[in-house]
Amino acid sequence: MIRPFRSETERYGEYSKAGEFVYDHPFQWGSKRTGPDLHRIGGKYPNIWHYHHMIDPTTMSPGSIMPAYDWMAENDLDISSTPAKIRAMQTLGVPYPEGYDEKANADLMKQAESIVADFKKNDVSIAANKELIAMIAYLQRMGTDIKASR
Ligand code: HEM
Repeated sequence: MIRPFRSETERYGEYSKAGEFVYDHPFQWGSKRTGPDLHRIGGKYPNIWHYHHMIDPTTMSPGSIMPAYDWMAENDLDISSTPAKIRAMQTLGVPYPEGYDEKANADLMKQAESIVADFKKNDVSIAANKELIAMIAYLQRMGTDIKASR
């Protein structure tokens, strides 16, 4: 959550608005932060930057104390419960279209394939079904509703 203080908005961008979290269940505002605020991280760096940063943060940010998440490039993403998660969100008022529970994983894989295709330009080869790809998709989505509307 980016607070409405100049020191934060100068560094991270537009402060967080309640409406941007209206479909989060549970919503995840907190008061503890380790490392930079990530709410407006979407679009700040190319996909390949995130790939290298998650494998070894010090390659992109020398001296970083962030732990490596290289194992996410090995682990397969578990998508078996996606339909049930979509249905649960629908009961909580998230406006996914009727029947989207059965389409969500196809959209997920399409998005994952586009990130993997993007990596090919940098001679990086990784399967689309790895956890790291989903993490990058999530990071690139963060805080972009407001950016997109401008
Ligand atoms: C899955 C968990 C995490 C993700 C997705 C993540 C992601 C990121 C990203 C995208 C940045 C770049 C921010 C920017 O330049 O605007 C960053 C930086 C940073 N993160 Fe993390 N982080 C995670 C976990 C952690 C943890 C557990 C720590 C605690 C030590 C941490 C500490 C830092 C620090 C100190 C930086 C600034 C230096 C750097 O750019 O590497 N992060 N993180």
